[in-house]
Amino acid sequence: MKRTHKCNQINIDLIGQEISVAGWIHRRRDHGGVIFFDIRDEDGLVQVVYNPDSEETFALAENCRNEYVVFSKGLVRERPEGTINSNLATGEVEIVASHLDILNPSKPLPFQLDEYTSVGEETRLTYRFLDLRRSEMQQNLRLRSKVSSRLRNYLSNEEFIEIETPILTKATPEGARDYLVPSRTFPGSFFALPQSPQLFKQTLMASGFERYYQFAKCFRDEDLRADRQPEFTQLDIELSFADSSVVMNLITDMIKDVFKESLSIELGEFPKISYKDAIEKYGIDKPDLRNPLQLLEVKTLFKDCDFKVFSEPANDDDSRIAAIRVPNGKSLTRKQIDDYTNFVANYGAKGLAYIRVEDLSKGKEGLQSPIIKFIDDEIISSLMKTLEVEEGDIIFFGAGKSNIVNDSLAALRDLVAKDLDLLICDWAPCWITDFPMFEKNKSGDLTPLHHPFTAPTCSIESLKNAPLEALTDAYDIVLNGTELGGGSVRIHDQEMQKTVLSLLKIDEREAEEKFGFLISALQHGCPPHAGLAIGLDRLIMLMTHSDSIRDVIAFPKTQTASCLLTDAPGHAAQDQLDELHIRFHGLDKEE
Ligand code: AMO
Ligand code: AMP
Repeated sequence: MKRTHKCNQINIDLIGQEISVAGWIHRRRDHGGVIFFDIRDEDGLVQVVYNPDSEETFALAENCRNEYVVFSKGLVRERPEGTINSNLATGEVEIVASHLDILNPSKPLPFQLDEYTSVGEETRLTYRFLDLRRSEMQQNLRLRSKVSSRLRNYLSNEEFIEIETPILTKATPEGARDYLVPSRTFPGSFFALPQSPQLFKQTLMASGFERYYQFAKCFRDEDLRADRQPEFTQLDIELSFADSSVVMNLITDMIKDVFKESLSIELGEFPKISYKDAIEKYGIDKPDLRNPLQLLEVKTLFKDCDFKVFSEPANDDDSRIAAIRVPNGKSLTRKQIDDYTNFVANYGAKGLAYIRVEDLSKGKEGLQSPIIKFIDDEIISSLMKTLEVEEGDIIFFGAGKSNIVNDSLAALRDLVAKDLDLLICDWAPCWITDFPMFEKNKSGDLTPLHHPFTAPTCSIESLKNAPLEALTDAYDIVLNGTELGGGSVRIHDQEMQKTVLSLLKIDEREAEEKFGFLISALQHGCPPHAGLAIGLDRLIMLMTHSDSIRDVIAFPKTQTASCLLTDAPGHAAQDQLDELHIRFHGLDKEE
């Protein structure tokens, strides 16, 4: 059995020739007396016809079902008029079979490949080998491979070298929970799987490698979403003697190159937006710039108004009042506005004030809104001027604590743009820069926005005096509202590193225990360096227009971080546990 052609290669040039193909029965149709198979291999489909005059072959074909693996031989002929399928590369021809081998039958399928949407993701993940046969999944993984090799070539041409770093290692401080692996040789000790290769790539800079990259598996035990997996891949990059503009230019050119080469898409400009501006204009540090809507700060207008919902936040430093002007938003129904009000409530907003601009010539009379009766005419008219309203607009307002207004209006901005079909282009990349060094966590302690090795742009003195005001040389690359990657210029000055760690309440002993090797490397002649990591899964998710990174990973985990195909995580045998000196407390391990 040797196939002469891949399915996709069968075309009118082969008419009259005897050829053979091998693959899966994509679809079997029995037209009472004649049986048709669409045979599928990794490249495409071809139609094969089984006639009763070829008795033995026909009998075999009668017994086949979808997804049997077969080998078939026959003559290529033109399809009869009216049966040509112009959607198919092989749609002008068919093979009249003289021979059929069943290479492997298939049990009845848990779902038909073209009916995957109705079975739910659980079944798809349980039978991932079937799901991956679907052309969409095949194309996703093929693009992933093409993009990875293009990125490799690009970086290699730029004189980067690929270096692998350990998987069994110590914790990396990236802010998520670690996956731990117990050590057999050191009872009671654990390896941590890397959350990123951050510590090692900085150590490589101290080791004299000036341009490093790696496709690195990272592990983070965190709450999962459509764009987060517990195990994912970063394209991790670090450069010595480089500043933020070198890194941003390199990555901009690399991403442009890969879109052009893999999808024939010209990405255009990558504007730089400071973190502060992004929050003010979009409420979020990963804005979707395809969406023309913006948040406009109108706090100052309401300082002296009688409407408490607005005057209270107007006079509070931690609050803001932001407006979103939606051109032609007047068409939104009462029901939609109520739905939006419920939607923003999910983010903690206590309401969603709005003004509909029905008739601009009538002044206040031409406005329709539940709030204008509480607000002076003068304020209304300055508001209309500030917002440059036009007839037919609707304006939404968020008032309250800044984080709630930002979160709720950022989400509303996306939803309204989706509902009213407002996106102005297909691709909108940008860089977000000048991130604050720290933010406060729920218990009031400082935590780094990026990680503790990111270089603040201020002096050590200023950092100590006003840590929450310190900015950094960190940058995120954002595409269509998804954070694709992030990085920073690193601290290479000992005193600065010590100051940051002490502000994070990591004392010398803890620092030594957690990442003493990096501190030591920094103390022994480390060049200034900077880098970044791109989330490869997210990049491919965007490039394939997938809704989830699970659709671009061959064997992903579920929302609860399990693998339905392998049933991992699983139980360990008692002798393994004994060897690892592990005993369970308060948990029946058979559970
Ligand atoms: P950061 O934590 O921002 O930076 O991660 C870089 C990029 O990795 C992707 N990513 C993820 N993708 C899928 N699932 C996840 N759970 C997940 N978490 C992160 C995102 C993100 O932008 N060491 C630094 C980089 C550096 O400073 O060089 C780091 O890991 O696309
Ligand atoms: P109330 O006085 O709570 O009935 O609110 C009057 C109007 O203001 C309603 O349209 C509410 O949806 C709106 N509103 C209430 N709280 C807020 C808020 N925090 N931000 C924006 N609008 C609000």
